[in-house]
Amino acid sequence: MGSAGTETNETVCQTTEKIQLDAHKMLESVRATISHCEDVLAQPNVESGRRASHDLDEKWAEFQRLFDKMNHQLIDSLGRNMRSEGFQVNTRTSMQSIDEEDEDGLSEEERKAVLDYDFSIEKIAHLIKSKKVTKIVVMAGAGISVSAGIPDFRSAGGLYANLHKYNLPDLPSPEHLFSIDYFKENPMPFTLRSKDMMPGTFAPTPTHHFIKLLAQKNLLHRLYTQNIDTLELLAGIPEHKTVFAHGSFADVHCINPSCRERMQLEKWRFFIEKEEPPRCEHCPEQALVKPDIVFFGENLPARFAQLRKKDLGSADLLIILGTSLAVSPFNTLTELVSPTTPRVLINNESVGANVGLVHDQEPGLVNYRDVFLRGTCDEQVTSLCEWLGWSEELKDLIEAQNSAPHNGWTRMVEAQARP
Ligand code: OAD
Repeated sequence: MGSAGTETNETVCQTTEKIQLDAHKMLESVRATISHCEDVLAQPNVESGRRASHDLDEKWAEFQRLFDKMNHQLIDSLGRNMRSEGFQVNTRTSMQSIDEEDEDGLSEEERKAVLDYDFSIEKIAHLIKSKKVTKIVVMAGAGISVSAGIPDFRSAGGLYANLHKYNLPDLPSPEHLFSIDYFKENPMPFTLRSKDMMPGTFAPTPTHHFIKLLAQKNLLHRLYTQNIDTLELLAGIPEHKTVFAHGSFADVHCINPSCRERMQLEKWRFFIEKEEPPRCEHCPEQALVKPDIVFFGENLPARFAQLRKKDLGSADLLIILGTSLAVSPFNTLTELVSPTTPRVLINNESVGANVGLVHDQEPGLVNYRDVFLRGTCDEQVTSLCEWLGWSEELKDLIEAQNSAPHNGWTRMVEAQARP
């Protein structure tokens, strides 16, 4: 390479260095915003979640604008300085990607490679069977437990629309049932409701067994569940593979932060059956005792924050089951997977537009990786198992449960007593 080439190289390197420095600064600012949003999102509160997500959108748009500008500066600089025959920089790739990329940063070829615009259940089964997919993250909501006899929250037949059964005239809104501030003021509504949610009195559904099957086949990277009914534990889905994002009824503690004494499930149940809010016998305040469920106004378990980025970032398939995706920060998990990871929603209604799921199935520019299988979770996972050739195994798991004694409560009590 001649001296002209060396000079040109130096000029380009200086420009590149400056641009890299600017990009670094910008990334730092984006990171700071993300970390701020994470703090806000750690509150299971729809309104603060929305605000944080709006802030993040704005910052992201600004980042993209600056990034595009810098990219163009770099390419201009390369173009102006490329006089020497010896200077080999393949600007074509960069130029092409700017022309062809869309907001996901993927080229048309990369988008096509995800599902080949085939949004069918067969395609998903094929990806699993052919071992293109080996790390499946499942996000679950109340819809997976409906066939066990536990109503969901927001459907017409769900808990929030049917609270009148419990005669709770003082309850300001259905969500107040799970608000920590309201519970401290008036624990009666939650106490009455708990009577109908006694852990161990319901049995897991075929969908729970399907998730267990994924674990048995070493395909379950992690299950993130919003459900508090403990059916995952009763189905035998390994605990280390599960994140109970909203806690569960499996354990009970005093709410006084300086006490946090555990109450035995049997004792807690004794009070609930009497319709008397349980109180701690250990702390001087005799504070209220409640199951380790995350109420609105409380933080999610640390395990959720610790695992989510790594888990979702390395997932090669996301399966979302029976949730309205209405509650933050849980619903933002959908956005943590790579842009090349397919996201399958199994639900009886289309949801998730608020967190970026797209369900148009026209081959084209918008949707390339979101599959919507409308129907009940049990129907759809049964059908997926048929395509996978797993029907017998699923049936065996269901039959094993049906023929075993229904001892859910005893198992919960024993599990709580284990060190
Ligand atoms: P939702 O009641 O908000 O949503 C359940 C979704 O599942 C809805 O879209 C239903 O249409 C759908 N669905 C119901 N039955 C189904 C079935 N058999 N098959 C397929 N889909 C079905 O429940 P979640 O999204 O889980 O918080 O609610 C999230 C959180 O809101 C809950 O964890 C709870 C609540 O406030 C706490 O308990 C702290």
